[in-house]
Amino acid sequence: MLFRNSPDRFGLVTKLFHWLIAALIIFLIWLGWYMVDLTYFDRWYNESLEWHKSLGMLVFGLAVLKIGWQAYSPTPQNPAPLKPWERTAAAVMHFTLLAVMALLPVTGYLISTSAGKGVAVFGLFEIPPLVKGDETLRDLAIEVHFYLAYGTALLLIGHAGAALKHEFLNRDGTLKRMLWG
Ligand code: HEM
Repeated sequence: MLFRNSPDRFGLVTKLFHWLIAALIIFLIWLGWYMVDLTYFDRWYNESLEWHKSLGMLVFGLAVLKIGWQAYSPTPQNPAPLKPWERTAAAVMHFTLLAVMALLPVTGYLISTSAGKGVAVFGLFEIPPLVKGDETLRDLAIEVHFYLAYGTALLLIGHAGAALKHEFLNRDGTLKRMLWG
């Protein structure tokens, strides 16, 4: 079926989740890196953070839906026989990427709500502060958010590198099947 995964193909919904979340995360890493050096006198000082928070919460929503979809429509088999260590490395990488999709927004949310204020999402609704934050929690959340974000950048390089290696060196169609194959 077009929308669901089949035993050897990714369906449309999985592909949309994959590329939408990938684009958002790459953009958010850049935006986060850019915005933390802005000062109060920069035009984008407030606006960049508002966009960062809204898009980050969108990633959280998409990650939850993606995890639900994956349970309903399981991931196809690997296109080529993999060595046991490659199978383990791929499983660990994919699990870690799913975890950061949820944990990055959660730590961002904890930074933003530590002063007791909610997070406005695209000006449409507000997510209230759920935990009573203090300075220690805020500092910890900032640190974890920082390492998770730049750690994710490294993971993405490894993930994309592995996909490119399989596509162009092993020629086993790994990348193509997440595009149109
Ligand atoms: C996948 C989602 C996200 C990614 C990839 C991401 C990435 C980043 C990056 C790279 C930085 C800059 C860190 C630095 O250089 O110091 C940053 C900072 C920040 N992010 Fe996120 N973020 C995400 C989600 C969120 C969410 C959902 C919120 C809030 C609701 C948020 C709030 C913040 C705040 C407040 C900062 C500034 C921290 C500081 O003051 O140092 N982020 N983020």
